[in-house]
Amino acid sequence: MTNVKFEHLFSPLQVGPMRVPNRICETTNTINSSRAPGLIDEHFIAHHGAKAKGGTGWIGSETWLLDVPFPEGAPDEVSLRGGFGSHFAAYRNPAFIEGWTRFVDEIHASGAVVVVQLTHLNALWAPSAVPVVGAQDYTPHVLGESEIGFLLDTYADAAEAAMNSGADGVEIHCAHETVGYSFLSPATNRRTDRWGGGPRERIRFVVEALRRVRARVGDRLALGIRINGQESRDGGYDNLELREMLYYIAETGLLDFVDLDVGHCWGAPSYVPSSYHPHAEYREFGKAARSDLAELERKVAVLFTGRINDPVLAEELLKGGFCDLVGMVRAGIADPEFANKAREGRLGEIRRCIACTRCIDEASEPLTIPYAPTCSINPEIGNELHWAATFRPADRPGHVVVVGGGAAGCEAARVAAMRGHRVTLLEQGRRLGGQLLIAARAPGRDSFEDQVYFEENALERLGVDVRLNTRADLDLVRSMQPQAVVVATGALPRLPDDVPGIDQPQVVQGWDVLLGKAATGKRVAVVSQEDYYQTPCVAEYLAAQGKQVEVFHKSVHLATEVARYSIGMVLKRMESCGVKVHPNRVLKAVSGDTLEFVSSWGGQSYREQGFDSVVLVYGAVQQPELYYRLQEDGSIPKILLAGSAWVPRRLAEATRHGANVGMMV
Ligand SMILES: Cc1cc2nc3c(=O)[nH]c(=O)nc-3n(C[C@H](O)[C@H](O)[C@H](O)COP(=O)(O)O)c2cc1C
Repeated sequence: MTNVKFEHLFSPLQVGPMRVPNRICETTNTINSSRAPGLIDEHFIAHHGAKAKGGTGWIGSETWLLDVPFPEGAPDEVSLRGGFGSHFAAYRNPAFIEGWTRFVDEIHASGAVVVVQLTHLNALWAPSAVPVVGAQDYTPHVLGESEIGFLLDTYADAAEAAMNSGADGVEIHCAHETVGYSFLSPATNRRTDRWGGGPRERIRFVVEALRRVRARVGDRLALGIRINGQESRDGGYDNLELREMLYYIAETGLLDFVDLDVGHCWGAPSYVPSSYHPHAEYREFGKAARSDLAELERKVAVLFTGRINDPVLAEELLKGGFCDLVGMVRAGIADPEFANKAREGRLGEIRRCIACTRCIDEASEPLTIPYAPTCSINPEIGNELHWAATFRPADRPGHVVVVGGGAAGCEAARVAAMRGHRVTLLEQGRRLGGQLLIAARAPGRDSFEDQVYFEENALERLGVDVRLNTRADLDLVRSMQPQAVVVATGALPRLPDDVPGIDQPQVVQGWDVLLGKAATGKRVAVVSQEDYYQTPCVAEYLAAQGKQVEVFHKSVHLATEVARYSIGMVLKRMESCGVKVHPNRVLKAVSGDTLEFVSSWGGQSYREQGFDSVVLVYGAVQQPELYYRLQEDGSIPKILLAGSAWVPRRLAEATRHGANVGMMV
């Protein structure tokens, strides 16, 4: 138990007609938790409902995409990137509203409020013929007067539908990639009619939308806007201009709250900030907005969001006057119960979001269909119903030995112990964590260690017998006479077997570099066949030591599997630490300081010279030998293989595999 007083975090707040039971807000996050396109299903209700049950006071769930002003015959399956057509104007579908009403009832039963975000995306239609930053290589259709009127009316229609479903508030989305945002921005709003011009003119669309909503729902709903605190593009608004616009909007007396975040969908900064961003980086913007709006007659609550994963920090922000409400989205994905744990003084039990961005990477570019929300460290996310249905105490509690204390091993041990088994975990290293400890060594990735703390605390609380510095072999495991063994012995870095000269001493592995086990010279070639974060992490680690670093990468660019919300920050950091990246290169030979490459597609040869060291980032190879030896031996009733020891993938896969195996012993 931790004795932290949360004097502000758990105090209720009146926001217009809505009484928010505490200050913790799940701002809207379209994580696509429903498996029925365009409908609200039990998965959706379980996913967001878990946060409400866990003590989050404000549930923003997933955005409502409003009606599409397409010209007749326009094929939405082409235009709407990936066929999300059924999500548009879903609120006009009685089956959607029926599901949404059940969802609202469920949230209310937990004591939380529901705020619905109303969104018009701006990729295809916008105030002016200016492409959305990074979004596409085409120019959006310029909205005519009647189309603007059409869009404005849909906000009112949707707000009415939200109200009829029992929701407590609505928020007009004027940040990120939305039409409202396009009107506010001087970069994208170049109109010379009444909808464009200076700050007073550019807010007209938003104010008119608010007016129409108020005219329809009166004071029966709390009404707010989501707004970006500053644009990070040439010709965009800065925070001072935003404050001016926000003041003019609030002056109308139409607003009950403003939901402020910072960033865009293209990464630097991202409004879903990765671990490269400090916690609550733009908190001063919240404070400024709060003091600007304080003098208005109608009270406007300020909600501030941006990498706040800790209730103690949230309390500090409230206490320090940075905001009235705190957005904590990924905090609740990593641990839906974090609010209740904080209130009960169980801070050590909270699984803190490590800001790895897997949730948004996956939601924006789903890898599987049907898609389920994914979190690197919380195995239950997206599978809440499955977990609720299958989690049960062990039929015959016994002794389970887990070999390997990486992500999979820790999760297997944790879940097995929760189910009542006596668990011994054997780890050959000095500490639990496995690859988490390697990742945490890279600049801006220390948050990965938070997950190690979580597992260490959890296993201790559950009474797992953790034996460090213990290398398991067949004899040791047999001598412990367990009923079941989980082999989670992980992976080792891959060494290509078709590259002459790769065995020379100047060639080392990226993991060893991060662990400080391999020395490198002044000029370093990082040669990569890995598409996620490892390569930029290794390159940046070396650059931070003053090395001259060049990356030779097999793909079209570095980190191709880091999705659009996060890739900008990765590439920006490469640039700012002076790392030079050569895409489209496959290593063919190493000889002294010379590297021979061939291009990935064209087949052309390249020679690069003058490198003191070569650092390989080639992914990893599984190490399942103990599993096969145990199987051959046959003396242990149940033997399971988990995580990278089966196939090395990402953290989320290891976590889930480990937890699932923990359910099976
Ligand atoms: C998977 C995912 C989907 C999101 N979708 C939306 C969205 O539809 N609308 C929106 O305004 N913000 C969206 N966001 C941004 C969140 O509301 C929030 O601002 C962001 O996650 C930063 O807060 P956090 O650091 O507490 O996670 C999304 C975030 C995530 C992780």
